[in-house]
Amino acid sequence: MSPFHLTRTLPEDATDAALRTDVLHGLTCTPKTLPPKWFYDARGSDLFEEITRLPEYYPTRAEAEILRERSGEIAAASRARTLVELGSGSSEKTRHLLDELTELKAYVPVDVSASALAQAGEAIAAEHPGLDVHGLIADFTTSFALPATPGPRLVAFLGGTLGNLLPAERARFLTSVRAMLDPGDALLLGTDLVKEEAVLVAAYDDAQGVTAEFNKNVLLVVNRELDANFDPEDFAHVALWNREEEWIEMRLRALRPVGVKIPALDLAVDFEAGEELRTEVSAKFREEGLRAELAAAGLDTSHWWTDSAGRFALSLSVAR
Ligand code: SAH
Ligand code: TRP
Repeated sequence: MSPFHLTRTLPEDATDAALRTDVLHGLTCTPKTLPPKWFYDARGSDLFEEITRLPEYYPTRAEAEILRERSGEIAAASRARTLVELGSGSSEKTRHLLDELTELKAYVPVDVSASALAQAGEAIAAEHPGLDVHGLIADFTTSFALPATPGPRLVAFLGGTLGNLLPAERARFLTSVRAMLDPGDALLLGTDLVKEEAVLVAAYDDAQGVTAEFNKNVLLVVNRELDANFDPEDFAHVALWNREEEWIEMRLRALRPVGVKIPALDLAVDFEAGEELRTEVSAKFREEGLRAELAAAGLDTSHWWTDSAGRFALSLSVAR
């Protein structure tokens, strides 16, 4: 059995303090917002896994197709001995990479979801005897310490999760990723591409309503953690394409006037009928724009691959 460690880089009460700050700020500003990382408690992580199997949600299958075909090339180009994966979730697609990275000594999955990390980390440690699997419960938008493992280092950020950050956060995040790398180390980045509106909207508003349930789960997290009394039935799931920003916006629309009490914050929040709470954006990219954002952070794109239908891109960028 190979070693599996799980490290929490922040004490549990820091997570709680961050949630309080985010909810207090997000529900008292106009328009109301909540940051996406709070979607992923154990139930949220399970619902996301269900989303990845929906017929309308093409990104996971498209990215898996590229990883199946290109993992050998990625291994040859990176010669990685440490793979750090940000927002690793179930690490399902990562298995293609792990099979091809023959020099790999350490796998460091990083996620806010302790349940997803523990499940994936233990399974991968069992499948890869001799690989040091070191899970980190951490927020990838803040700085955190990586374990001392051998280089070269490859950082993977899959699933289109970069698109869940707003442009300013994205620039900060890419700079912090660059700081995790030595010159010559690489970033493997999965990003969804701009395409026909109907295809995009369906991927975030599926017929079975799984994405609606996932979106509303954030209200249940606030209820549980901060004793709030949101009724998910008071809200409708909304997914719309913002043509100017080229991102999908996920919102929760109040179906009637709603009053919510959040005792842990000593806060009462009112929604007018029709008022919307923005819960998430999922930006879609174009090759030229993404290459420029990476270059601005000191990352030079050496490879750009798409799936056969051209829906999703996987890029490899080298730290200057
Ligand atoms: N990489 C997987 C999962 C993508 S879903 C895939 O491609 O299928 C996004 C993942 O990022 C979830 O597992 C979620 O828990 C995690 N996540 C979201 N925001 C995060 C943050 N700020 N810090 C760390 N992990 C985060
Ligand atoms: N990274 C995923 C994406 O942008 C996350 C996601 C998929 C998501 N479906 C969602 C987030 C629905 C919120 C709601 O595609």
